[in-house]
Amino acid sequence: MNKTIIVSNRLPVDLKYIDDELVVKSSTGGLATGMKSVHSEGNGIWVGWSGLADEEMDENQKNAVDTALAKEKCVAVPLNNDDIENYYYGFSNTALWPLFHYFQAYTEFELTHWDSYVEVNQKFADVVLQQVNDGDTVWVHDYQLLLLPEMLRAKNPTLTIGFFLHIPYPSYELFRTCPWRDELLQGMLGADLIGFHTYDYARHFISCVSRIKGIEINFNEISYANRIIKVDSFPMGIDYDRYHNAALEHDQSSEESKTDLMKSIDFHNKSNDGSKLILSIDRMDYTKGIPNRIKSFEYFLNKYPEYKEKVRLVMLAVPSRENVAQYQLLKRETDELVGRINGDLSTISWTPIWYFYRSLPFGELIDLYVSSDVAMVTPVRDGMNLVAKEYVATRTKGDGVLILSEMAGAAKEMLEALIVNPNNFDQIADSIKEALEMPADEQKTRLDALQKRISRYDVERWASEFLKALKVAKDIVPV
Ligand code: ADP
Ligand code: G6P
Repeated sequence: MNKTIIVSNRLPVDLKYIDDELVVKSSTGGLATGMKSVHSEGNGIWVGWSGLADEEMDENQKNAVDTALAKEKCVAVPLNNDDIENYYYGFSNTALWPLFHYFQAYTEFELTHWDSYVEVNQKFADVVLQQVNDGDTVWVHDYQLLLLPEMLRAKNPTLTIGFFLHIPYPSYELFRTCPWRDELLQGMLGADLIGFHTYDYARHFISCVSRIKGIEINFNEISYANRIIKVDSFPMGIDYDRYHNAALEHDQSSEESKTDLMKSIDFHNKSNDGSKLILSIDRMDYTKGIPNRIKSFEYFLNKYPEYKEKVRLVMLAVPSRENVAQYQLLKRETDELVGRINGDLSTISWTPIWYFYRSLPFGELIDLYVSSDVAMVTPVRDGMNLVAKEYVATRTKGDGVLILSEMAGAAKEMLEALIVNPNNFDQIADSIKEALEMPADEQKTRLDALQKRISRYDVERWASEFLKALKVAKDIVPV
């Protein structure tokens, strides 16, 4: 029987050696959390990087890594420190990530980074080719592996190859600035089906193929190298039942089983009569609009001072790509902003911003989702944003309001949220007020519509629609 192999830079688990002990943690980020349930129910394997540098492990440690990954149906692509520096932190995260998120000023094009990107994509190809049989399906994910589809096809044309991009695809005017724009498109065109979260990203890609490669395109079919390549949008969903059921369990949990975080939230809710919680959860990334969110919360408190001591922003940021300079600057800016605002506005019984810089276990994440009256998801640019969908899935009592940036792919599907421009502090301040004062029946009407849609288009349906379309795309014969 043919199998499906998932390939991405990040595996669903992230490994670390701490004092010679191998620690296995769940990875954060939409790709890993979203694909995890698809993978666990399938019969294939997942190929990717373990998070460790190859030369820092002895043979026993490498074997332990392989065994731990095999339990998760995963296979590692060994990367050394140079690869991590130049391919991962370098080309992937200081060229492609900022470029594709419209942060052109942060984008650095370095030849050594590019060379490493090509080399590491080839390493991924070599590992995948060892794992496949003729006729298998390979599903390649995200911007770290744009060259992989073509590398696989060149060695094994019997494979069915799908590619999905989890981040925005930028407009031609931005993409054309990349010195290796031709090679990147060539790499992606090795796939039979190329998927994006939204129609706009797919249009941008088609426009780049047509203008840079001069290929004629018929609606969403590209005829190239005697093949037809399909391009389409597939908005990614979440494992709705997992979040919804965890929230139901939370509602029934006993006092003794509550986490310290939950006890502390309960304590503050009781002691601050009528006080409300606004939640913010992201990786610490400059695309997420974290400083803007903090500033707009401060602006809100100053514009509507009657809310002082009545509302708190709980801000959870998970450390991410800490070796990249722009991420270090963002961390410093965030620390300073939170410190200044809490210093300026706190009272004996009230701290306006609770800030956690760490990753939280699933149960505590659910505690936060369930306890928050409002979620602020205000990225300045985001491919999709699954946090917005997770928040909606956990609202089991029909209350709660989502404030969502129009710059997130999710905004295309979640029109019942309060949609804001993440750069417009005045509009955000008014939306926070509107959210806090929204009548219960309006909250419920909006949530019902969102939940209906998000539960129907969950991650399983997303994956099965992509794989179905991939099979159809592979079978198209050019005329
Ligand atoms: P991105 O993929 O850019 O990180 P998404 O919103 O699509 O953004 O996905 C983020 C994922 O990471 C979500 O599934 C979310 O629950 C998870 N996550 C974010 N912050 C944390 C945290 N501090 N601890 C644990 N999980 C987190
Ligand atoms: C986004 C990207 C993923 C990436 C994740 C976490 O979701 O689309 O490809 O895995 O961020 O980032 P990291 O660099 O830690 O893998």
